[in-house]
Amino acid sequence: MGIEAFRYDGRHALIVGGGSGMGEALANLLLDLGAKVTVMDLVVSNRSDVTNIQMDLRDRPGIDAALAKVNGPVNAVFLCAGVADGEEGIEKTLFLGQRHLVESAIDAGMVPRGSAVAVISSVAGLGWERALPVLDEYLETPTFEAGAAWIAAHDNTATYSFAKQAFLAYTAKKAHQFLSKGIRINAILPGPTNTPLARANAEQWLGFAQDYRDNLGIPAAEPMDQAYPLAFLCSDAASYVNGINFIVDAGYVASGLTGSWDAPFIKPMMGIE
Ligand SMILES: NC(=O)c1ccc[n+]([C@@H]2O[C@H](COP(=O)([O-])OP(=O)(O)OC[C@H]3O[C@@H](n4cnc5c(N)ncnc54)[C@H](O)[C@@H]3O)[C@@H](O)[C@H]2O)c1
Repeated sequence: MGIEAFRYDGRHALIVGGGSGMGEALANLLLDLGAKVTVMDLVVSNRSDVTNIQMDLRDRPGIDAALAKVNGPVNAVFLCAGVADGEEGIEKTLFLGQRHLVESAIDAGMVPRGSAVAVISSVAGLGWERALPVLDEYLETPTFEAGAAWIAAHDNTATYSFAKQAFLAYTAKKAHQFLSKGIRINAILPGPTNTPLARANAEQWLGFAQDYRDNLGIPAAEPMDQAYPLAFLCSDAASYVNGINFIVDAGYVASGLTGSWDAPFIKPMMGIE
């Protein structure tokens, strides 16, 4: 295999949250790379050359109904949906609904050997390793409903950063179990990226690491800057890459960690100091 290992010819990609932002950029890229694409989202994507399935990740029976509409096996599952802190049911949109969806698809035999899953987490999920004891308890909830009940019983867990930590821990934890079925799973951690969601929370989201970018003379990432690594991670070119957290932030976290850029909160976020 050569360059074709990066392509998606003859492969079916399911993009959850593919109606906007990074997921939409990914749909455009995967179509260029030869994939057949199905988009699941609250909204209908702008593309008529994908199969659009409208659904709400907060509605468990609705997720099951959406999966029943998917035509044929799925070779790549991208979990890209997101909302910001303060949204009703954030834990379901960001984690529980997407977990239910991917596990249901695998259990139903829709995801054959040789397939891969990619998750969008966030730099906001850094430090998940330190939080593993409590995350483990949450990850052990066997169902969507049990997960929601666990969140309701634990203060300060219906948050963006807890959900993003949970998805990173989940990615690491499922690497072995999924691969025993021939399926890889990896996650990206985007830094600030110019999407409708980030623009709606511009001060907090797009203001993050502004000093670093100003110093380098670079803008925030564009959605396609995140779509390329996602496409790579589920391609055959990444066939030995499994269970990783892939930071896509122009080096801000690495610079803060090593002290080559003054970002003193990075080490505490990672649980190192
Ligand atoms: N933009 C950033 O700076 C940034 C940084 C780090 C991580 N992220 C993460 O990247 C991912 C993509 O976000 P984006 O910035 O492209 O935002 P976006 O709003 O452009 O895209 C998110 C998509 O998720 C869909 N969605 C939201 N709630 C849903 C629900 N209940 N059911 C089904 N679909 C739902 C939305 O309709 C939208 O199409 C999210 O997980 C987000 O948390 C974003």
